[in-house]
Amino acid sequence: MCGIVGLVGNTAASPRLVEGLRRLEYRGYDSAGIATLSNSKIDICRAEGKLINLEERIKETPLSGNIGIGHTRWATHGAPSVLNAHPHSTKSVAVVHNGIIENFSSLRSMLKAEGHEFISDTDSEVIPKLIHHLLEQGYKPIEAVASALKRLEGAFALGIIFAGHEQLLIGARRGSPLAIGSHEDESFLASDAFAMAPFTRRISYLEEGDWAVLRPGVTEVFDSSDRAVSRTFQETDYNLDIAGKAGYQHFMEKEIHEQPRVIRDTLNTYYNSAAGKIFLPNDNKELEKLDQLSIVACGTSFYAGLTARYWIEGIARVPTIVDIASEFRYLESPLKENGTALFISQSGETADTLAALRFAKSQQQKIVSVVNVTESTMARESNIVMPTRAGIEIGVASTKAFTTQLVTLACFSIALARKRGAISNKEEVRLTNVLESLPELASKVLAQNQSFIEISAELSEVETVLYLGRGSSYPIALEGALKLKEISYIHAEGYAAGEMKHGPIALIEKNTPVIFIAPSGPLFEKTASNIQEAAARGARIILISDKKGITALNELIHIAFEMPEVDEFVAPILYTIPIQLLAYYTAVSRGTDVDQPRNLAKSVTVE
Ligand code: G6P
Repeated sequence: MCGIVGLVGNTAASPRLVEGLRRLEYRGYDSAGIATLSNSKIDICRAEGKLINLEERIKETPLSGNIGIGHTRWATHGAPSVLNAHPHSTKSVAVVHNGIIENFSSLRSMLKAEGHEFISDTDSEVIPKLIHHLLEQGYKPIEAVASALKRLEGAFALGIIFAGHEQLLIGARRGSPLAIGSHEDESFLASDAFAMAPFTRRISYLEEGDWAVLRPGVTEVFDSSDRAVSRTFQETDYNLDIAGKAGYQHFMEKEIHEQPRVIRDTLNTYYNSAAGKIFLPNDNKELEKLDQLSIVACGTSFYAGLTARYWIEGIARVPTIVDIASEFRYLESPLKENGTALFISQSGETADTLAALRFAKSQQQKIVSVVNVTESTMARESNIVMPTRAGIEIGVASTKAFTTQLVTLACFSIALARKRGAISNKEEVRLTNVLESLPELASKVLAQNQSFIEISAELSEVETVLYLGRGSSYPIALEGALKLKEISYIHAEGYAAGEMKHGPIALIEKNTPVIFIAPSGPLFEKTASNIQEAAARGARIILISDKKGITALNELIHIAFEMPEVDEFVAPILYTIPIQLLAYYTAVSRGTDVDQPRNLAKSVTVE
């Protein structure tokens, strides 16, 4: 999704803006641009496609100046093109924008009637035109921005510079995230702290409705009522070296292989070794009385929620509903008085999940969030924050964020079960030990890396793939299909194995690949029947199971991936790894852009 960066200081802005944009690339984009002030005049360079195109243009026509703004654009209103790329400008003001201005149409008509011309198809172009209009009416730059912000509806994070004002950068946020930072005599803004890491570690995330005036080394923040406010600054610990993929070909591959470590880090966050027990971050009494839980999320995080339902209902015995945020937010569900809603998000900024969280809050729900970015808006607006310890995830397709979400939710289920007296001490110790064994088991699965390459080459030639699973393997089938679609662009469907007969079976013809996620266990026999049914129709059966499962179905299998024997409780976590590897190697075989697949964004900050 769009990313913005801005800086005001005493050294050349252009190369550093590009460096900041490079660190925003992972969010997903299809054009990019920067603007600087040289000799007090606005200079702009924009390019369609990847950052390299922008860099080439800058090489041809360098931009000077020590103040500037930059943008990576993920097209919403208007195709990816140079004209639609940001910054948008007039001769007096240039703006970068992340979000959607919902009243752009009426603003545009008003400004057109005043004689302003529009050259792009974007909603964003109304912002510089509106500010320019106010400047023409005699407003000073800061007043013009304060006044313009009041007329904008929708979501935005903004970076704004003005011709003739080489020491003035303004940022603003409503709905979309924005961080500011400073270091010695320079000040910065960006969509996230990671983009600013080469320049400063001292950052502050603006609060909803805040706007900030940045001058070299000085930052001032105002709230939505234009009152000067003080916001806390913190030191971030982001690793500067993102160029290094630690010998892997892609970030996604690196992130898949980081899973044993980040699973361990996440477990350590919740496991108290002195007590030998798992605890939640705040010992919250109200969870004891919880009689229903609503889990809400988007994308891969939603599948983590679906998986968690098996644990929360099965182990903690709490009735649970799981919903997609973009639906939940408009359902106006009658939520139980003083109930609890749990939101799952890697970024903590997904627009629909955040809106759903705010809806739940307005219904007096206690808010629990499972987030990877602990400085995120969702984390800040939650009563209980359960961090995942995945570290920064660069690959757009989520991998280690998902498995660490699962680990966190598994810990949540155990702690919740104990609070509610739904679990015996013996069972708690057993489940905790099973969780503890995960990092080692994950390493074992990753060591079989090579065996996924061959079948992936085969999969890369097909048009459609079915993923089937039962029980807690069902959400993993959904996640498997999503991963394949996202990065290899092959059509894939995930289904509950028991539902196969109600539709997807019609897709099966000779050699259709059907991937079964089927650890041996209580539901294995049922899935085995579905495998028979698919095989009888000529499907190419790809089975992910343990030795016992594979031996039982040997005759029917085209290819099998042998997994270590594992307790049913953690099977969905471990069985995620092979479906990630399958998707990854299939995409590599097809030569797609694995880390930044077409049309996708890492953090979806628009509806
Ligand atoms: C986008 C990403 C997915 C992610 C989803 C939800 O679609 O590409 O990887 O699962 O958003 O994001 P969140 O940050 O809320 O987990």
